Amino acid sequence: MAIQWFPGHMNKAKKELEERLGSIDVVIEMLDARLPGSSANPMIARLARGKPALKVLNKQDLADPASTEQWLKWYRSKPGTQAIGLDASDSAPAQKLVAACRELAPNRSGIDKPLRVVICGIPNVGKSTLINSLMGKRIAKTGNEPGITKGQQRIMLADDIELFDTPGMLWPKIIVPQGGYNLAASGAVGRNALDEEEVALELLVYLMKRYATALDARYKIGDIDGLQDWQVLELIGKKRGAVLPGGRINIQKASEIVLTDFRDGNIGRISLELPEEWAAWEKAAKEHEVLRAAQKENARLEREEKKKGVRK
Ligand code: G4P
Repeated sequence: MAIQWFPGHMNKAKKELEERLGSIDVVIEMLDARLPGSSANPMIARLARGKPALKVLNKQDLADPASTEQWLKWYRSKPGTQAIGLDASDSAPAQKLVAACRELAPNRSGIDKPLRVVICGIPNVGKSTLINSLMGKRIAKTGNEPGITKGQQRIMLADDIELFDTPGMLWPKIIVPQGGYNLAASGAVGRNALDEEEVALELLVYLMKRYATALDARYKIGDIDGLQDWQVLELIGKKRGAVLPGGRINIQKASEIVLTDFRDGNIGRISLELPEEWAAWEKAAKEHEVLRAAQKENARLEREEKKKGVRK
């Protein structure tokens, strides 16, 4: 399943960000700490090339702390890039953002040379929640469906630090298939854009590999060594009473149970990708794209040759 999702306001958001970037010193991109690679918007990276970047790994309360550490190290090793972990329970998010932004743009300070920062991120990473907390009151609306952050606002993070918000944006194209599944598992993709059974099975494949103990602790399914993903899904359905009349497992219900438990952190603190895994998926996806482009070009040349042959 290739999950593609194009919210209508994306082009508008892209234009707004492009215009805003001219006067911006630091670009903050909020990422989901459970899936930093998948939740990054390649368009943001392209538009903000050359600008100091702060990656905020949000919802770290739900992510595997050891994985988050690896991701922070990975981002910090990149030129002009700083990274911090964050979650909604943090009592002083502004201080963390201020410290990281000052480090990234030390030449900007004082009222006459204010540090201008823009914050962006795909829907559902927790941007509205953070902005509400920075403003000290609920101004940006938050909710459980992606894509509801609208309009733009400015927040003074310090006397000389202006933070601009952008509307939620999404990727123009998910080229990494695993990224699509991970986004769907996290809840960042609208429900009507995904097949929950497929997403739950992909999630289980990963959990069985890295978090088998956590799965057993949650569902008491015992040793799952040698079992297939669908067998584990059936076991979970059985344990949770997702059974249809006649005794068949209600796979849709079992899939919803797994996805909801993952999203709510009930299976434990889980991350769905590590930097090197993400890099390998991205590399394979890019190679696939190159191959597809070459095949398309070959087919085009063949068609042209044929046309020429007919004319002769
Ligand atoms: P967005 O603007 O980027 O689209 O995201 P938003 O703030 O609306 O947050 C999306 C969901 O993620 C909300 O949950 C929000 O409570 C939750 N969230 C935000 N930050 C964190 C965090 O650091 N940790 C955890 N665990 N959750 C976070 P919801 O269930 O969709 O809505 P509600 O519970 O707030 O009503």
